[in-house]
Amino acid sequence: MSWSVAEITEEVLSQLPQAVRFTAEDEALLTRFAPSLAELEERLIRGFYDVLFGHPETARILSTGERSEREKALRRWWSRTLQGPFDARYWQWQAAVGLVDLRRNVTNPMMIGMWGWLLNALQGELLETLRLLPHEAARLMEAFHRLAATAQALTAERKAICATT
Ligand code: HEM
Repeated sequence: MSWSVAEITEEVLSQLPQAVRFTAEDEALLTRFAPSLAELEERLIRGFYDVLFGHPETARILSTGERSEREKALRRWWSRTLQGPFDARYWQWQAAVGLVDLRRNVTNPMMIGMWGWLLNALQGELLETLRLLPHEAARLMEAFHRLAATAQALTAERKAICATT
């Protein structure tokens, strides 16, 4: 049986208990804070690729000349994520990003590790750069953790997606 990316995305999402899913409230919260979060783009994207270019295993995947192209793609991802909507197309895109990364031999440990980096970096930025109140930062981080869990769940299945498409 051959599954489309849309079907696999739907199947992965259906496996996630309600409590771990990104909610309409999460979306509304991100939209409310989007203008401030957009200001973090430069620091987050630079930091992300500093880490990847600074580690031999991940640097081997990237060529020096492609840094600006890679940064541009991640900026587009950040700004689309802040804009919403978090509809079927958005989640299918996350599954597809996993496939694009897979083609370049980006492993699950690399993806999961960088999600962890992103979440920690975000937490620091919300408090230190944006100076949000602790309860606002905590609520936003809850939303980002649900986003991360969903995106990682979709990425974890990319080998299955690949095998069936
Ligand atoms: C939080 C984790 C990650 C996110 C959200 C992410 C996001 C993205 C996005 C949005 C693209 C562009 C896809 C497109 O063309 O539509 C991309 C491509 C790419 N990413 Fe990632 N990525 C992540 C982790 C990584 C890691 C750990 C590496 C390791 C080196 C990596 C290397 C690449 C490469 C090489 C491409 C270009 C693929 C190609 O077009 O040939 N990514 N990624």
